Amino acid sequence: MKTQILSALRNADTYVSGQMLCESFGISRTAVWKYVNQLRDEGYVLDSVPNRGYRIIDYPDIVTASEIESRLLNADGKMKGIFNKIVYFEETDSTNNQAKLAAAKKGDESLHGTLYIAERQTGGRGRRGRHWVSPTGSGIWMSLLLQPKIKPEKASMLTIVAALAVMDVVQTVSGGISCGIKWPNDIVMNGKKITGILTEMSSELDYIHYVVVGIGINVNITEIDPSIRDIATSVYLETGRKVKRSDMVAAFSETFLHYYNDFVQTGDLSLLVDRYNERLVNAGRDVKAVYADGEIVGKALGINAEGELIIQREDSQKITVRSGEVSVRGLYGYV
Ligand code: BTN
Repeated sequence: MKTQILSALRNADTYVSGQMLCESFGISRTAVWKYVNQLRDEGYVLDSVPNRGYRIIDYPDIVTASEIESRLLNADGKMKGIFNKIVYFEETDSTNNQAKLAAAKKGDESLHGTLYIAERQTGGRGRRGRHWVSPTGSGIWMSLLLQPKIKPEKASMLTIVAALAVMDVVQTVSGGISCGIKWPNDIVMNGKKITGILTEMSSELDYIHYVVVGIGINVNITEIDPSIRDIATSVYLETGRKVKRSDMVAAFSETFLHYYNDFVQTGDLSLLVDRYNERLVNAGRDVKAVYADGEIVGKALGINAEGELIIQREDSQKITVRSGEVSVRGLYGYV
């Protein structure tokens, strides 16, 4: 109910009367008053004027379930698009772990579109078993659980879909400072990484049980952990601006829905490839793709509709890389 009241206050451009809230939600005056006080305790600044009602003046930089959900509710009270539920943790090991645990326990399709989000992760995980530093209150640590009806080999495309949405949002809050994508899914600003995506899947050969798209965005971090200072940065450190994280989560969700629909419509990335390649920092640069059994060095040309990176070797032969670690010369220390 608190979420509905928050949403009603957010969507109104003037005062909302207590009477109106009572009637819309079938609750008593005392209940309205109780929820208003709860919101104030959480840091919301609500003005109340006798005979006019309540108006939201300011909101805290929090990513609680009601804060995020209130931003994603349609007028009919349902969440937008595929979004289904927000699960919030003040502290957890890893939102990817929580999403996977829930999916394994539930074992049906009812979790499609659930977003797991944490204020702090104690065991944040990056790609290839790396640790992901996830301090309190200054980043977005979230995982979207999807149960799409697509072939398992297409699941890696969801990473590209999410990366595009994250890139758009980071670009919007960063004003004139341009950011780009390092294939497949790092968002980079001034040569340093600002976000990362870890996509994990449980599937059979031809059937996906679930995909978890885990997204980490360094938003208001003022000091980068010394272990990653040379390669990582934050929106705040690059732009000098602090951003309310729920604004970014809401914008990400809307943009993701848009790109996800494009992906579902065609079953590949054909509607997104141009936009992605425009922002690909690898494009036209020397790259080194490292596999378990060797490496390819060449010029990156862009991605194809399957999300694979096309690399042109010195002998002009074009190779496509589906997954793996790709270093770009001049970025994160590759010389
Ligand atoms: C990378 O190595 O670039 C991927 C980093 C992904 C980090 C995010 S934070 C939210 C989610 N939970 C995790 O444990 N990892 C992902």
